[in-house]
Amino acid sequence: MTGHATDRPWLEPGLPARDRVEALLAEMTLPELVGQLHQSANVDPTDPADAALLATGAIGSTLLASGALAGAERDEGVDRARVDALQRAATSTSRLGLPLLVARDVIHGHRTIAPIPLGLAASADEDLVADVARRAALEAAADGITWTFAPMIDLVEDARWGRVAESFGESPLLTSRLGAASIRGFQESGRLAACAKHFVGYGLSRGGREYASVDVGELTLRNHHLRPFRAAVEAGVHTVMAAFSDVDGIPMHSHRRLLREVLKEEWGFDGVVVADWNGIGELVEHGVAADLRDAARLAIEAGVDVDMVSGAYHAHLAELVERGDVPRDLVLDAARRVLLLKVRLGLLDPGCPALPGVTPVEGSRALGIDRDLAARAAAASLVVLKDDDALPLAPPAAGTTLLLTGAFAHETTGLLGTWVLDGNGEEVVPIGAALRSGLAGLAGQDSAGSLVVDTGGFPDVTLRHAREAGTTIALVGEHPWRSGEDAAVSDVGLPHGQLDLLRAIAGVAKRLVVVVLTGRPLALGEVLAVADAVVLAFHPGTEGGAVIADVLLGRASAVGHLPMSLPRSAGHVPISHAERPSGRPLPASATGRGRYVDSPATPLLPFGAGATGLSYGPLRLVDGPAVAVDGGTARVALTVTNSGDVDVREPVLLMMRDEVAEVTRPLRELADLAVVDVPAGTSREVAFTLPSAAFGYHGRDLRHRVDAGRVVLTAGWGRPDESSVGVDLV
Ligand code: GLC
Repeated sequence: MTGHATDRPWLEPGLPARDRVEALLAEMTLPELVGQLHQSANVDPTDPADAALLATGAIGSTLLASGALAGAERDEGVDRARVDALQRAATSTSRLGLPLLVARDVIHGHRTIAPIPLGLAASADEDLVADVARRAALEAAADGITWTFAPMIDLVEDARWGRVAESFGESPLLTSRLGAASIRGFQESGRLAACAKHFVGYGLSRGGREYASVDVGELTLRNHHLRPFRAAVEAGVHTVMAAFSDVDGIPMHSHRRLLREVLKEEWGFDGVVVADWNGIGELVEHGVAADLRDAARLAIEAGVDVDMVSGAYHAHLAELVERGDVPRDLVLDAARRVLLLKVRLGLLDPGCPALPGVTPVEGSRALGIDRDLAARAAAASLVVLKDDDALPLAPPAAGTTLLLTGAFAHETTGLLGTWVLDGNGEEVVPIGAALRSGLAGLAGQDSAGSLVVDTGGFPDVTLRHAREAGTTIALVGEHPWRSGEDAAVSDVGLPHGQLDLLRAIAGVAKRLVVVVLTGRPLALGEVLAVADAVVLAFHPGTEGGAVIADVLLGRASAVGHLPMSLPRSAGHVPISHAERPSGRPLPASATGRGRYVDSPATPLLPFGAGATGLSYGPLRLVDGPAVAVDGGTARVALTVTNSGDVDVREPVLLMMRDEVAEVTRPLRELADLAVVDVPAGTSREVAFTLPSAAFGYHGRDLRHRVDAGRVVLTAGWGRPDESSVGVDLV
């Protein structure tokens, strides 16, 4: 940027952010205001058309992405030198010299790849999730990225949907807590903006299909799907992304009620609402806009501030204002939000690290990767679904073999999961190699030599090995290509052919341990039936191979718990722990039979399941049962005991049931959770303190309320040592 700071107050870091923005807005022409609302992908200053956009201030941000399905593809990666060249062109060729926001989907890591968010949710560990986001922000900012399109905080009860991989699962409270933790981690340095997406209800996409309709009322949105977004706004998220879908017939990119009236006005969100890829242009396909001009009008009126790649704002917004079809104030408000974000990120401060020449061009490559963090995250994400005294594996005795079989045995990139744009599969140690070196470390080279690694390409050979081996470890599950955006499946069982082979292996193996690698909850009924132990690994990231080997050999503890109900089949979804009551509940005696004549209706394994060996004492009231509706506090506690011989980190879930309310309330929902460390052979007291507002909900008038009445709190839900206490709100 050129010019003296004195005649350009927006460049003065000492002035209040809003004063700097207002001074700048007063200086800007309508085309320059509209320019801040235009986002184009991969802007290239050597391209004449892009150079013209930059020189006239007709663009405010760029997205570095391979295309509309960036999560399922790999591009050439981010190059800091190219980003610097872009910012140099943006700041030196235009009248006001405003830098661009540079965005990228940094979802579960940038160079250091953590487990997919569904795996991180299995840890239920806010500190861990914040650490992962903080590291991602450090690496992304080093590459000149100033905006990530994460966290995805859609609630998902349908394992068919490919994007369940990016979610934190089915619980509003868990997703709220982990979403807020991600935002804190991403934004703490002040150099990166997070983005809460996809506002709102996208996890309800019909049939689990991408881009489909959503049928839900505002009451369920408020009592369920809007909660994580409210938490995100309260956590200070800088941006929110609109969902592709229509909600009850109104496409989100034109949903004035939810975007402008609820998010911006009722909640006071002063950040930026960004369209999803061509989401504004797709209002034409939705059939609510006659053309791109109409789409631009609907979107700016609804409160969409930045147009991701459709070009509608760039082409039509100035003309719509000049013709009086769109109030200039709407454009001014949107530009204000974008410029306030740029000031908050320091982009208008001389010497900002995101500006050219300030940060070395080797960028994140100079940082290396944080393997300890990736390993910690991977271990916390693994869920032991079953263990009949099969784990940890003892090194094979002399003369016996240990068989590791399955396509994942030598896999590297496939362990990283979907939405990995800059992670490097070459940094992954495959499970086979990790297991072999683990055995060598535990019991010497002979033991390592007894490991047979077979990718399962010849089932007859696999069966021969399985018959001979003392223990067989079978790696099954799905490759990341069939999870993520536009990767819905109609069958949530194992991919074709895997179960047949697993059944055959089970018929000959002396002992069978199954590791399931996946981007979604799968129907694992038969797997659980035939295996002696089952470990569920939501695509575990850079250190996934090494950590799976360590867990199998007892050198690390898998402490994850299910962030989503495990379905019996695709016919059972959507399914969740937070079902609302039926007017005709099944009697307790009908356990096992559900509302299907051919199957139980309960999940195969419930939300929160995970074998870690803790026992729960009775839940008790710390104070009396009475809690004041206005400002009261409920305090409950229990003791958990680890009688095992390995330390355990456990999320202790506290469920609640509001027995009588103005609207139907879930049979159980997560009221609070506490992640506790319980060393081997010790007990720990776990205490919960809940403000009366935690028992509130949105009533028939859509307003939040806390009723007098009884609320039942339950710990250890679904376990043999489950216990409950009643709280009386008065
Ligand atoms: C995609 C996704 C969104 C992503 C955006 C940019 O279509 O829906 O989550 O952030 O486009 O890649």
